[in-house]
Amino acid sequence: MCRQQASTFGAAAHNLEPQVSGESTTSLDASTPVVGGPCNREHVTIWCSNDYLGMGQHPVVLEATIKAITETGAGSGGTRNIGGTNKYHTLLEAELADLHHKEAALVFSNCFSANVALLTTIAKLVPGIVFISDAKNHASLIEGICGSGAAKKIFKHNDMQDLERVLAEIPQNTPKMIVFESVYSMDGTIGPIKHVCDLAEQYNAMTFIDEVHAVGLYGSRGAGVAERDGQMHRLDVISGTLGKAYGVFGGYIAASKRIIDCVRSFAPNFIFSTSPPPSVCAGAATSVGFLKSHNELREAHQAKTAHLKMLLRDAGIPMLETPSHIVPVMIGDAVKCKHMADRLLNHYGIYVQPINYPTVPVGTERFRFTPSPVHTEEMMLRLRDSLVSLWHEFNIPLQTSKQPVVTPQQQRIPLSTHEEGIRCVQAMATANPL
Ligand SMILES: Cc1ncc(COP(=O)(O)O)c(C=O)c1O
Repeated sequence: MCRQQASTFGAAAHNLEPQVSGESTTSLDASTPVVGGPCNREHVTIWCSNDYLGMGQHPVVLEATIKAITETGAGSGGTRNIGGTNKYHTLLEAELADLHHKEAALVFSNCFSANVALLTTIAKLVPGIVFISDAKNHASLIEGICGSGAAKKIFKHNDMQDLERVLAEIPQNTPKMIVFESVYSMDGTIGPIKHVCDLAEQYNAMTFIDEVHAVGLYGSRGAGVAERDGQMHRLDVISGTLGKAYGVFGGYIAASKRIIDCVRSFAPNFIFSTSPPPSVCAGAATSVGFLKSHNELREAHQAKTAHLKMLLRDAGIPMLETPSHIVPVMIGDAVKCKHMADRLLNHYGIYVQPINYPTVPVGTERFRFTPSPVHTEEMMLRLRDSLVSLWHEFNIPLQTSKQPVVTPQQQRIPLSTHEEGIRCVQAMATANPL
């Protein structure tokens, strides 16, 4: 990633290769291109990374990774059951079980796979189970639920009345599992974990929460929103990623020993896949351990988020007011969103990915900013000034202070039809021919 992050953490400065638009001459850096002037694309500040705390650049993580790669080599050498379990896999799983105060944890190459494995295994081992899924659940949860072949019911996003309505429709002794997230990554909403757990107890349901966008970031040890809300012990399964706030790679589930043993023994995507490299596990375990006792990074992250929100709000940039670290700036038009993102990158040296259908419904296209402790005040001001200039360039009125703030709950989220989505993609292709 970028030197902006390495500089915060001191010695480990890097000139890493660019990842933007295939430009091999662009270094992702903290240096400041002049606002309003053409950007020479030598310096780009990333504003949409999910390496939320910059741990992917942190010296303790790099050191642990390098030490392990020297010690164990580049790859794991096999599946977990056949040659691919190293001390760093077990170390990481112990660290994660401790993080969530669960009996055990199981590491995968990514959390997409972990979510699918958990859901399909539960469906296999608990015949007749019904999955009760939040309408805004991530693609990995939908994939797991649909692929499992089990019955499913969907409740309106974060709507506890609707969840109760759905639960009440299912016979008390039918096995069921509520599947939801803590931080929803596109709208920045947060699941009402206590209320979900209360209903789960009342209606005899199991609970599975995806804390992918919360682990490392919330709770006194970084175990997520469930830890912050004192609800961790009430959740049957917690999944998380090691590739976002922890800055490395991989995914996991944490649960009772029994559930973990079931997934270990029955999930084909765990059994028949090469395990993550030991060096990756060493880096991830170090990151998880480090963040358990470094609340100051979480505090800095929240402070930077609040500050950016204030800057954008005061400048009249139309933002969804979220309770989390995600800062969605609404554009509402796919072609415009893409053109504006291109302009930000090419002219202002700011990289933010346009978020279009199918990631969000047609009509709610947006930028999704993810401030981090390693973004400086100067970068924030430059972002604000660039966005204001961009709004003028595209002739979009800025919000006045009299206009009401929109929360994700108040925002009318249209459901996109497939046809609408196709039309949008076609419009994009016409506007940006290859
Ligand atoms: C809510 C949610 N769950 C699961 C995943 C998958 O995590 P991973 O990137 O580790 O596969 C993502 C990825 O972005 C996500 O946003």
